[in-house]
Amino acid sequence: MRGAEVQDTRALAAGALADVALKGASLRERLKSAQETLGDPRDRAFLTALCSEGARWWLRFDKAQEDLLQQPLRKREPALHALLVLGMVQLEILKLPPHAAVAATVDATRALGRGGFAKLVNAVLRRWLRERDARNRQLDARPETASAHPHWLIDALTRDWPEHDAAILAANNIVAPPMSRVNARRSARDDVIAELAEAGIAAQPHPWLRDAITLASHSDLARLPGFAQGNFSVQDGAAQCAADLLDLRDGLRVLDACAAPGGKTGHMLERADPDVLALERDHVRAASIDDNLHRLGLRCEVRTGDAGKPSTWWDGKPFGRILLDAPCSATGVIRRHPDIKLHRRASDIAPLVREQRRLLAALWPLLASGGRLVYATCSILREENEQVIAAFVSAHVDAETQAFELPAGHRAGAGWQILPGEGGLDGMYYAVLQKA
Ligand SMILES: C[S@@+](CC[C@H](N)C(=O)[O-])C[C@H]1O[C@@H](n2cnc3c(N)ncnc32)[C@H](O)[C@@H]1O
Repeated sequence: MRGAEVQDTRALAAGALADVALKGASLRERLKSAQETLGDPRDRAFLTALCSEGARWWLRFDKAQEDLLQQPLRKREPALHALLVLGMVQLEILKLPPHAAVAATVDATRALGRGGFAKLVNAVLRRWLRERDARNRQLDARPETASAHPHWLIDALTRDWPEHDAAILAANNIVAPPMSRVNARRSARDDVIAELAEAGIAAQPHPWLRDAITLASHSDLARLPGFAQGNFSVQDGAAQCAADLLDLRDGLRVLDACAAPGGKTGHMLERADPDVLALERDHVRAASIDDNLHRLGLRCEVRTGDAGKPSTWWDGKPFGRILLDAPCSATGVIRRHPDIKLHRRASDIAPLVREQRRLLAALWPLLASGGRLVYATCSILREENEQVIAAFVSAHVDAETQAFELPAGHRAGAGWQILPGEGGLDGMYYAVLQKA
């Protein structure tokens, strides 16, 4: 693609979406690089909407194209294939005026340097428009294309949450409103809300999370007034429950075992003055903890290491609290990261469970007697959550589960599961273990 051509937002989005859906690229990373080429915030917002909804609805409109084209373009012309998906997304999801959307998508074909396909793109989208009712009915008849979720995940949700599976699929397909966490050391929540209102952004306090606010619009939060000054951070409310469950005190030695990018670390330090060690395996991600804490005006020790190998980083002094925010399938945060639908595989789950068990077993000896370990994941699969905790507790006589309830969600074994959308939050699991 040449320099002048990349300014076409739809063409840019098609290139990015093809990388995400067909080459395994991360939506967040790909969006970031594509956005750098656009100066106008409205173009950046449109690019985000196109790529996010393209990933969210890929499994529906990818199939729609397969039905419409004798020879699908997926392999030969990945960007054109993604552009056709985006054409349908504009018509069916973003509800743009049909003629303008089709014309602009045909123009994007040329901007991609594929002008020879302009007639084909025009014909496919016009045929879709003529036949959309019947074709949408066909797509609605199959669970995978109706919900745009992969089979394995639909099956897992039906197995784990038979009374909630339809609500979970629906919640994953709705764009989640942005949420922030107010830095209690820097600002009162009402003051942050007032400052945002002055910038034209409506924001509401969350009804039961004391630091959380929900914003009405989808602006780039990092550009809003007060962000650079550390008055607030971007964080879903479900993740903000960790600080409460840890029951922090000043001076308490705390291990944040899987810490990057430091969202929960920052919240702990905003709440109290514990002595926190933030541990992260990935060097690059560990640096992001320092950056985030610096913006918030906070400090703690940040180390790079494998939480499953304490002998390589632990000084032998027990911790009064441990947060294990374990690597997981992220099936609870699809509404914010719709590419998880495309990237996660059924075969990923067993290795993740093994890793969750390994980390829990390795960290438990580091907890002081009477200390508390909070196990957290942003998964909604029972295998990664309550089953990990049940197996651990049955193998460790000194591990006692602490029952608790949150205003949204469900008891799940010894812990608590928030499902996507409940309480306006992402899906998240927590269990609290006390050492006898
Ligand atoms: C769910 S994210 C943590 C989010 C973080 N707690 C927050 O609130 O911002 C999991 C993190 O654990 C890290 N990780 C995965 N395996 C690890 C290990 N064995 N030891 C330390 N960190 C690990 C990943 O690189 C990732 O950054």
